Amino acid sequence: MLTLKNISKSFLQRGVVLKDLDLTVNEGDTVSVSGPSGSGKTTLLNIIGLLDRPDSGEVLFRGEKVLGYNQDESALYRNRNIGFVFQDHLLLPYLTVLENILLPLLATKASDQDYRQKADEARRMMEKTGITGIASKYPYQISGGEAQRATLVRALVNQPSVLLADEPTGSLDRRNAENLGDLLTDMNREYGTTLILATHSQELADRMKLQYSLSEGKLTDGKH
Ligand SMILES: Nc1ncnc2c1ncn2[C@@H]1O[C@H](COP(=O)(O)OP(=O)(O)OP(=O)(O)O)[C@@H](O)[C@H]1O
Ligand SMILES: [Mg+2]
Repeated sequence: MLTLKNISKSFLQRGVVLKDLDLTVNEGDTVSVSGPSGSGKTTLLNIIGLLDRPDSGEVLFRGEKVLGYNQDESALYRNRNIGFVFQDHLLLPYLTVLENILLPLLATKASDQDYRQKADEARRMMEKTGITGIASKYPYQISGGEAQRATLVRALVNQPSVLLADEPTGSLDRRNAENLGDLLTDMNREYGTTLILATHSQELADRMKLQYSLSEGKLTDGKH
């Protein structure tokens, strides 16, 4: 469903980050990308999510060349297909946790029935990740780990075909990291959500079907 061909990316002060990188992800795959800090994991996810552009190379999503999309088409691609969990989880400060989570539903033209179904599912995911109790709190009142789980539920609420998650368990203790891993694998099983995770956690990587390591600008198979 997703093919990256010869992707290269450099930053002025840093030099080459990604170098002729290739990646093929099939519908429903689960993929982990490990690698040292600064190896380019976030850069890679940003390129797939069209938040950054490579210097050269091709990104194909279901056969379409997405790098040629204009701004509107890029936004549509993201809204329809991609859920994003950022490394520096951002919740809007003036909305409650529940409002933050349901926000993506307001951005799509869902029918009432569709809205209700997805809102119910969001509540189920909140229960699963143990954040039901903070639904009506504001971001400044919750912990980093709670914010991380809320941003994951928010990314999943539109049932995206691909979830890009950058260090989703970064600030979670062991038990919550496990629950979050459960939620991710549930989503993959129940909805066929394709998962692409950047993670330093070997436990989380071990739960993915395909495990890649990023070093010297390229992905290699296997554990790091
Ligand atoms: N916008 C930018 N401008 C300049 N340099 C950047 C930019 N974004 C990333 N870099 C550099 O590119 C390299 C790769 O960064 P990236 O954030 O992709 O690494 P990472 O693998 O996600 O690291 P971490 O594990 O710490 O999150 C780093 O050296 C970083 O400083
Ligand atoms: Mg990163």
